Amino acid sequence: MSRGLHSIRLLSDPDIELLLDLAQDIKRNHQAGKPVLPQSKSQMVGLLFFENSTRTRVAFSQAASLLGHKTVQFGSSGSSISKGETLKDTLLTLRFAQLDAMVIRHPSSGATQMAARYFSGPIVNAGDGRHEHPSQALGDALTIIQHKGELRGRKVAIIGDVLHSRVARSNAWLLSRMGAEVRFVGPKTLIPSATGGLPVQVFYDLRTGIAGCDVVMPLRLQRERMNDGLLPPGSDFASQYQINRAAMKAASQDAIIMHPGPMNRGVEIDDWAADGPQSAVLDQVSNGIYAKTAALAWAMGASMRPVGLA
Ligand code: NCD
Repeated sequence: MSRGLHSIRLLSDPDIELLLDLAQDIKRNHQAGKPVLPQSKSQMVGLLFFENSTRTRVAFSQAASLLGHKTVQFGSSGSSISKGETLKDTLLTLRFAQLDAMVIRHPSSGATQMAARYFSGPIVNAGDGRHEHPSQALGDALTIIQHKGELRGRKVAIIGDVLHSRVARSNAWLLSRMGAEVRFVGPKTLIPSATGGLPVQVFYDLRTGIAGCDVVMPLRLQRERMNDGLLPPGSDFASQYQINRAAMKAASQDAIIMHPGPMNRGVEIDDWAADGPQSAVLDQVSNGIYAKTAALAWAMGASMRPVGLA
């Protein structure tokens, strides 16, 4: 069976629930020192990264190895991708590499769906342009469940450069479908004018936007995806939107602070918020590995029987 994980939006609610349950089973098994899933035949997973990445690339290779698979890495430096080769040509060349599955990160929205025309095996989207980053949202949801018990009824504020953020879009779809209240908070120029059917509330004032929230998630200013003029010269984003101790007084007292990384300390987040008692940033990193393991196993059609019940 071959299926891909391209977006949260295209998943059914039962599939989202299954993926979250699977990630939690995998986490439990891994922490108990057991194999994460019943071992299936070892396969070859291609990691194609047309954009820089630290945590996502490492987490997907860890995920593949937890499932007993091997990986081949293709990055934008050290491969013909840096010579301007297109995704299509790379994929046609890789037909001879006998890959069983691919994890793809690409600067263009929709790239993984386009890739499915040239590769018939399962594809997992590791971030396509400003479209989606589904495995990040699954890991973030696990982190909220870990700290807040459940998603239903939780108030989650996603702050800053929502416009260019695939993380914001995947999280907003997943969290709202699972019953959370999602808010986008930021300057008018960095919040999408049409939220494309997303059931989110929009706030332009930080303190009003995070008032009473259980989860506060600032985002990096993704300058590499920005056109000029979105942040007027001299505009002080940090003084209006930075998540720090003073700003957190507006959120719920036991709110957690999350950030998908990479963090720009001193801009959207300060050291206190990144490292202090309310930070759940490192839990996001470890849950991200379990979420990616679940995403890869699900896309590759692995047996979903939890090891504990075998
Ligand atoms: C994000 C991404 O690449 O979309 N990082 C990640 O994968 N954890 C966020 C970003 O680039 O700011």
